[in-house]
Amino acid sequence: MKIIVTKNYEELSRKAGNLFASQLILKTNAVIGLATGSSPVGMYKELVRIYQAGDIDFDEVVSFNLDEYIGISPDNEQSYHYFMKENLFNHINIRPENIHIPSGIAVDMTVAASSYDKMIEEAGMIDIQILGIGNNGHIGFNEPDVKFEARTHIVELEQETIEANSRFFDSIEEVPTQAISMGIKNIMQSRKIVLIASGEGKAKVVQQMIEGPITPELPASVLQLHPDVTVILDEEAASLLTR
Ligand code: F6R
Repeated sequence: MKIIVTKNYEELSRKAGNLFASQLILKTNAVIGLATGSSPVGMYKELVRIYQAGDIDFDEVVSFNLDEYIGISPDNEQSYHYFMKENLFNHINIRPENIHIPSGIAVDMTVAASSYDKMIEEAGMIDIQILGIGNNGHIGFNEPDVKFEARTHIVELEQETIEANSRFFDSIEEVPTQAISMGIKNIMQSRKIVLIASGEGKAKVVQQMIEGPITPELPASVLQLHPDVTVILDEEAASLLTR
């Protein structure tokens, strides 16, 4: 793993944005894997800025998001579909037909999950995947005790995740209890992975991910086995690393 420690969230976002942008310069038809949540918001702003400056072009880019809540329609403001439009897609020239986000309202979720895997395969697999990390070590919505060989699947969200994500909802009762998420296998098959984390609240889980044992109890620890992972942290998130 390559570890980059930055002064603060702004620097983290710039570095992550630049890293992502450099991949799009090298491969104009890249397949990119995207995440939601607080962590990538600054990076998406940075990508929009670089796009507006004319240095990157999304015309041939294909995207796959990690996850979506089950039972929430794409036009709902709490959906990850909505989040992606607001934070990135509405501001760049990606083609709507090249955007992929798992459906949270498919009639048959199992079929939706396996067809998502198929679409990733048909696109030639993900060139670069951005990840955040949950307080419990999840990546995507792969909660502790996940199967490392799982591909896109239905997930029961942990209470800790529901509580963490309740900040985006009016009340905790409104937070969905299930999600559809790419599996660890999809993530590990990405050619390049960039994980970002900021704030002291993430320090413990970041230390465990990088320096602890590889275990399904901390899903992100599996990234130690991937040949090309860059972890970008701010000083607070890096504060418990021993090396
Ligand atoms: C979001 C996702 C999650 C988040 C994680 C961290 O698509 O897959 O794994 O990356 O929960 O969330 P934030 O960035 O809000 O702390």
